[in-house]
Amino acid sequence: MTTIDVDLTELPNLTPQKFYPLYWNESRYMVLMGGGGSGKSVFITQKIVTRMLNETGHRFLVLRKVAKTLRESVFAEIKKTIYRWGVQDLFTIPKGATSELHITCVNGNEILFAGLDDVEKLKSISGVTSVWIEEASEISTEDYRQLDIRMRGKSRNYKQMMISFNPIDINHWLKKEFFDQKKPNAVTKHSTYLDNPFLPDEDKAVLEAFKHSDPYFYQVYCLGEWGVLGKTIFPKQIVSERIAYLRNRQPLKRGYFYYDHDDTKVLDESIKWVDDSAGAITIYEDTKPNLPYVLGGDTAGEGSDNFTGHIINNTTGNQAAVLKQQYDEIDYARQMYCLAKYYNTALVGIEVNFSTYPLRKFEEWKYPKLYVREVQDSYTHKLEKRFGFLTGKITRPLIIANLVTIVKESVHLINDIPTLEEMLTFVKNENGRAEAQDGAHDDLLMGLAITYQIRDQQSYGHEMTEKFDLSKLPEDLREDYWNAPADKRPYLLKKWGLVKAG
Ligand SMILES: Nc1ncnc2c1ncn2[C@@H]1O[C@H](COP(=O)(O)OP(=O)(O)OP(=O)(O)O)[C@@H](O)[C@H]1O
Ligand SMILES: [Mg+2]
Repeated sequence: MTTIDVDLTELPNLTPQKFYPLYWNESRYMVLMGGGGSGKSVFITQKIVTRMLNETGHRFLVLRKVAKTLRESVFAEIKKTIYRWGVQDLFTIPKGATSELHITCVNGNEILFAGLDDVEKLKSISGVTSVWIEEASEISTEDYRQLDIRMRGKSRNYKQMMISFNPIDINHWLKKEFFDQKKPNAVTKHSTYLDNPFLPDEDKAVLEAFKHSDPYFYQVYCLGEWGVLGKTIFPKQIVSERIAYLRNRQPLKRGYFYYDHDDTKVLDESIKWVDDSAGAITIYEDTKPNLPYVLGGDTAGEGSDNFTGHIINNTTGNQAAVLKQQYDEIDYARQMYCLAKYYNTALVGIEVNFSTYPLRKFEEWKYPKLYVREVQDSYTHKLEKRFGFLTGKITRPLIIANLVTIVKESVHLINDIPTLEEMLTFVKNENGRAEAQDGAHDDLLMGLAITYQIRDQQSYGHEMTEKFDLSKLPEDLREDYWNAPADKRPYLLKKWGLVKAG
């Protein structure tokens, strides 16, 4: 037998839109993270059955942590899909409660099932051409690495590890492996029950009811967001709901700045934005003429390799752009410089605790708008002015508390998911100090806290803001406000009845 063609034209009707493009995705890792009932498992069974019918030389291996759960879950699911599609005559599926778990297709392809607790059986299986790890949050990183190694070698068709799971813990290895940095050769897809048009209404109602009965279940199974078990300094429900809202929105653009430089400085005329999906800078709100912006930065140090920067629109407080990069201090200084220039020569305040290099560069380049702090000279006791932000015993808790307030009152100002995710792993340690949990980061969060702290040294822009705080505008009105020509904006505020006419 050679291949059999299933009618692929029907697949769009049989598949939630979210997953449909993944039928043709050949990445080595296909990672489906999501809430309950979002259609992850059924989609993977459909992809397996499609490949079983359209390709040859296959030996799929379907895994869960515990062997005795296989029959009722993954085996039953694949069988259901085969019957739902009416292609059961092309498959041999053993019947009976104790039959061997093994499905074959008339073209010779097979599907094997194993539990990771059945070490002997696993050892005996060879020549696997693709794998599905169901409920992967149950398995250890060691098990995953072993499987990854075993799935090397040549094969007629592309080899894929399909991984499905609920995000039960924000500290899980799956997050570090596939989400914290973009892994080459991996596609990730986030889904919730809202993406699954086939889910019965009563199942939806169960998921939604968690909102009032169990915040943790709500987060993981309804929103499909990483679960947070311990106590966090930032309000986790507010942060998670904001992340869930942002998941289905794309940033305006991602990339970096191109620049030429001579021996001493970046040449202003050469600065150019370059789109690049792997770029270090993400832009959420583009620069607008005549508006005041603030750029705050956190430099690498004390167990972290990341340099970060945030632009906020100082009139609204909206987080407009984020820079995050590793190691390279020189490029960091230059990218920050370009970013500041791009946003109307923003006020710049970079933390000087660990490295003064970026700030010294800004001084050397005669950057005109640097944040100034006052320090008391230990010898003369006179107050002196210095550039840069110093995070100290008093300023650190202060800027964190300030950011917590912003999150509680105006979380809509924060647009960057990685920054928000850091808030979910930011906790008090046993000495009462607020810090990132083991293995997590806080560079974005601290950078943003600095940015909000230094904004008083920048103008707040429009004189209208003295009468009306624009951050109180609902999001849709705020967009209309900024899209209107500058001279029409005061008129809009009057029209909406937010400031008195006259
Ligand atoms: N393509 C489909 N065709 C028909 N029904 C579907 C399809 N996808 C999902 N369903 C229905 O939606 C239900 C939930 O889908 P599925 O089990 O794949 O979700 P899941 O994301 O794996 O959920 P969990 O995280 O709880 O395991 C299924 O039991 C089935 O009733
Ligand atoms: Mg499932």
